[in-house]
Amino acid sequence: MMKFLYQKILKPFLFLFSPDLVHTAFVKLGICLIAAPPLRSILRLIYGPPTTSLVVDGIHYSGPILLSAGFDYNAQLAPILWDIGFAGQEVGSVTAQKCLGNPPPNLKRLIRSQSIQVFKGLKNDGVEIIIKRLKELPIPKPFVLGISIAKTNNEACADENEAIADYVTSYRRCFEEKIGDFFTINISCPNAFGGEDFARPDALRKLITSLKSVPSDKPIYFKMPINRPWAEFSQLLNVLEEFKVHGVVIGNLNKDYQSIDFQDELKSTEFRGGLSGKPCQKLSNELIGLTKKHFPRMTIMGCGGVLNVQDAIEKFEAGADLIQMISGMIFNGPHVLGEINKMYQERYVPK
Ligand SMILES: Cc1cc2nc3c(=O)[nH]c(=O)nc-3n(C[C@H](O)[C@H](O)[C@H](O)COP(=O)(O)O)c2cc1C
Repeated sequence: MMKFLYQKILKPFLFLFSPDLVHTAFVKLGICLIAAPPLRSILRLIYGPPTTSLVVDGIHYSGPILLSAGFDYNAQLAPILWDIGFAGQEVGSVTAQKCLGNPPPNLKRLIRSQSIQVFKGLKNDGVEIIIKRLKELPIPKPFVLGISIAKTNNEACADENEAIADYVTSYRRCFEEKIGDFFTINISCPNAFGGEDFARPDALRKLITSLKSVPSDKPIYFKMPINRPWAEFSQLLNVLEEFKVHGVVIGNLNKDYQSIDFQDELKSTEFRGGLSGKPCQKLSNELIGLTKKHFPRMTIMGCGGVLNVQDAIEKFEAGADLIQMISGMIFNGPHVLGEINKMYQERYVPK
């Protein structure tokens, strides 16, 4: 029923408006719902929180799906995310200082390619405001809160030392305020000053060495770029292995604009930022498979192009321990979360 309503009525209506506008409206609606417990009960009745039990790196998850970084970048929605079936989320990416982001529009829907072009530029309120907000949010106990940390998107942080100090500031502040169940260090943002400057082995080594000065014992993951050949990708994994980092999120947006199925959806003058959804799927699955084979110790959060139950199965079969998603929820509606939760329970949880 909800599937039908979303596909036939809500989605065609929402897709009449710009994705930036719809996103803002949804965040506002979410905030209103959090303040209205009876409405939240209805939402829970329709969708329902996850009810599985799995443990990854010592953290108990009530389901296998997390909301990926970038949707709730200002940490306003955790209770609602739980109501509709997410077991957790990555807040952010959060930066040490507030970022205004790129001038709008920041998002474009590529409907036939099942993708969103993202040109956000790490817009977020900055770590201090986000910590304060998270302390005040009524986050349900089983909901797992990951904090995605990126470097502030300004010219100063194009300098390596400044950038490292910036990452460490956010990480340290979350540690001091006891915020976050795990951390993900985003080294693959397509829209930041200086580009992917920590997706190089020597710079990555320097970054991890500095992060280690914070005495946190919470799991730490790295969000990986997906447009690297395995030879380069595995060099980054070798560095993570040296430091016994818990694992990786594979991965971030696709920056190869030739990979969209329907080239006419985007003019070459519009190539900027990165692509979510379907264009990420194959690259992400291949890298997950190789990482699982060559670095079996590492936890893998599989992310990129999980649009339906079958896509989720492919991620798990490739080697993912958990999955993260955004685009699937937008293109196919929140009921897809319930379908994946059910499949996971039936297929992967021992009876
Ligand atoms: C609107 C939007 C904003 C995003 N912002 C971030 C971000 O701030 N940090 C990050 O690590 N990834 C960001 N991403 C990438 C997603 O976390 C994810 O890696 C990517 O969308 C692939 O997953 P999907 O196909 O399920 O959407 C963003 C994606 C979208 C769609």
